[in-house]
Amino acid sequence: MRERRPTLDVSFDGVEVEAFGGESVLQCARRHQIEIPSLCYLEGLSVWGGCRVCVVEVAEDPRPRPACATPVTADMEVTTHSPRLKEYRKAIVELLFAEGNHVCAVCVSNGNCELQDVAVSVGMDHVRYESRSPLRLIDASHPKYLFDPNRCILCTRCVRVCDEIEGAHVWDIGSRGQHAVLTTDLNQPWGESSSCTWCGKCVAVCPTGSLSYQGSAVGEMQHHPDMIARLATARREGEWIDPEELS
Ligand code: SF4
Ligand code: SF4
Ligand code: FES
Repeated sequence: MRERRPTLDVSFDGVEVEAFGGESVLQCARRHQIEIPSLCYLEGLSVWGGCRVCVVEVAEDPRPRPACATPVTADMEVTTHSPRLKEYRKAIVELLFAEGNHVCAVCVSNGNCELQDVAVSVGMDHVRYESRSPLRLIDASHPKYLFDPNRCILCTRCVRVCDEIEGAHVWDIGSRGQHAVLTTDLNQPWGESSSCTWCGKCVAVCPTGSLSYQGSAVGEMQHHPDMIARLATARREGEWIDPEELS
């Protein structure tokens, strides 16, 4: 296979780096160990660009842009940290907290939660907005997994991984606006889903305590989102192990 070479010059906060044509600002930044917070983005899945936590500034453009959904272009000048971005990111994360029930002290993902980590990284120490936290019914009908919609931030990682990697397409978003909520199959309880293969990928990628293993106690739930990039790469590059090699 021909080695891919970077073909573009891009600058992050005044420091010039090399970029590959077709990669996003977020991918390029991560390759160069430049920290930009993100939530809905997950390497290996399609880009959704919905959470807006990854906002950056691009020279000559007054609007902040989502780094995960913005392709790099030649001589692009990106600002990843500024007082304005700091305030935007903090407000976005606070709004996510205000929208649901994110009482970390009683959450199965406490200590292993990307939402919690992002809140810390953007400097959130309280929520300035009134909590909406509508009471949504927990779906505990699946024998192995549990879905708590009160902790869901609608990042759609589960929707995408189930559709794009597992090929089952169990999850979707039903309703609109403030009533938007995840649904399984045709809005049946998850445990009655005939398309779920029990693979656990949706649980592995959830950045909050919304999807967990049945029986997990506070702080016990461990997610494993990194495995998806490995799966996606192996599939794309045809790196599967030949079963005959193992026998
Ligand atoms: S366990 Fe697998 S098949 Fe079932 S909903 Fe989750 S990702 Fe889809
Ligand atoms: S259940 Fe988890 S992965 Fe799915 S949309 Fe909600 S927060 Fe994201
Ligand atoms: S991570 Fe970029 S919009 Fe969510």
